[in-house]
Amino acid sequence: MKTRTPSGDPAPTALAALVLAAGKGTRLPGAGPKVLVDCLGAPMLEHVRRAVACLDAKETVVVVGHGREVVVPWLHKHWPGARTAVQEPQHGTGHAVRLALAAIPRFDGDVIVAYGDVPQVEPDDLRRLLDAHRRARADATVLTGVATDAGRLGRILRDPATGRLQRIIEAREASPEVLTLREFNTGLCVFAAGPLRRAVADLPRHTNGEEYLTDAIGYLAASGGKVETERAADGTALLGVNTPADLAAAVTSLRRRIVGRHLAAGVLVADPESTVIEPDVEIAAGARILPFTYIGHGCKIGPECVVGPFAHLRGGTVLEKGAQVGNFVEVKASVLAAGVKAKHLTYLGDADVGADANIGCGTITANYDGKQKHRTTVGAGAHIGSGTVLVAPVTVGAGARTGANAVVTARHDVPAGATVVGVPARPLGADGKAKPAAAAAKAKSAPAAGAKKGRAS
Ligand code: UD1
Ligand code: CA
Repeated sequence: MKTRTPSGDPAPTALAALVLAAGKGTRLPGAGPKVLVDCLGAPMLEHVRRAVACLDAKETVVVVGHGREVVVPWLHKHWPGARTAVQEPQHGTGHAVRLALAAIPRFDGDVIVAYGDVPQVEPDDLRRLLDAHRRARADATVLTGVATDAGRLGRILRDPATGRLQRIIEAREASPEVLTLREFNTGLCVFAAGPLRRAVADLPRHTNGEEYLTDAIGYLAASGGKVETERAADGTALLGVNTPADLAAAVTSLRRRIVGRHLAAGVLVADPESTVIEPDVEIAAGARILPFTYIGHGCKIGPECVVGPFAHLRGGTVLEKGAQVGNFVEVKASVLAAGVKAKHLTYLGDADVGADANIGCGTITANYDGKQKHRTTVGAGAHIGSGTVLVAPVTVGAGARTGANAVVTARHDVPAGATVVGVPARPLGADGKAKPAAAAAKAKSAPAAGAKKGRAS
């Protein structure tokens, strides 16, 4: 059955994207709904959102069900353009698509379907699928992959004579012979809206209580519809996530792809296999990323920076030109200006560090007082001695110095150019020793200083 005339260039056809995210994910233990399980620093559904968003579809419908009390707020926050369709109870992928189509009753274009548990999907996979579908003017086109063992995925059964797709057989219902087939259903497929509506109107219920979208594809093929397949560019990538092992494999595959892109852009990643870079990280060409380094989403790393080995840059960290972060250093939501060095055993959280400051081995910003996070500012050219604890909120002025093991307490800012030492940190006297606490207190004329044991004033 065709919905479009086969003459001339195809008129641009409207696109709707349906994302299925209602399933329970019984094979993936853990708290919360499966589609929000973290996969390299972002929920699986976020990876799917990024790919689908690139299509600029006229309509986007996400089917929610299990765990929707968390999935719907997530969608409102991260995918405001998407409509939601509630599937309760969940009677399978075919049932989910029927409900999604009911949310866009007048839509009559191409309908692309993506599963929320296939975080490996890339914009190019979807474009390739859509292009093939439109070129062939098909009723349905299925993106297939190839794996030596396609595990629990649906197998593509082809007519031996014509090679055309006949139907998709779910692994749980497949004979041992069918299970040896290497071509699998990635779950990504596109349909002309009319044939899809007809095909999902009356699907059989399987013994597990589910209606399969794959049966709709089989129905279209059997009833004379034009059903095409397109092989994914990386046939082994789109395996989806059903089990913890699948999740680990998805993380590995995403990680390799992201590191590969940074390498291609000129970043000197010394050991791609031990380097983890989450999505949305900007690294300038020529920056060096040494082994066993983890870089969280949203980080920005400037030219000539050196990160690692064994460094952890958490979300939103910015390293400006030539900054260096070395062994066992964790940096969170901080900006390290040009030329800053923090090379050993350090935690910098919620800090702004001025140009060329040197952060000595073992420096810690104590940014959390048990209730709130506070910021630390270190001025340009400051020299933070080994083992210094900077209790936030606090500022160390430009060019100031702290002695080894100094504890600079909250709100006791160190003036520019000053040197402080000791616990709690006090200005260094002319005799080369810390001024006594009482003298320091008097100097600042803080009346309560003596009453607070162990507290600098
Ligand atoms: C499905 C396909 C299989 C394919 C595989 C690719 C069917 C019947 N089978 O199997 O051919 O190889 O994906 O990964 O489609 N969902 C709902 N509502 C439901 C059930 C599922 O929204 O009632 C959602 C799930 O949240 C999930 C997606 O649909 O994101 C796929 O469902 P799942 O049960 O994981 O299907 P598979 O067994 O993996
Ligand atoms: Ca699945």
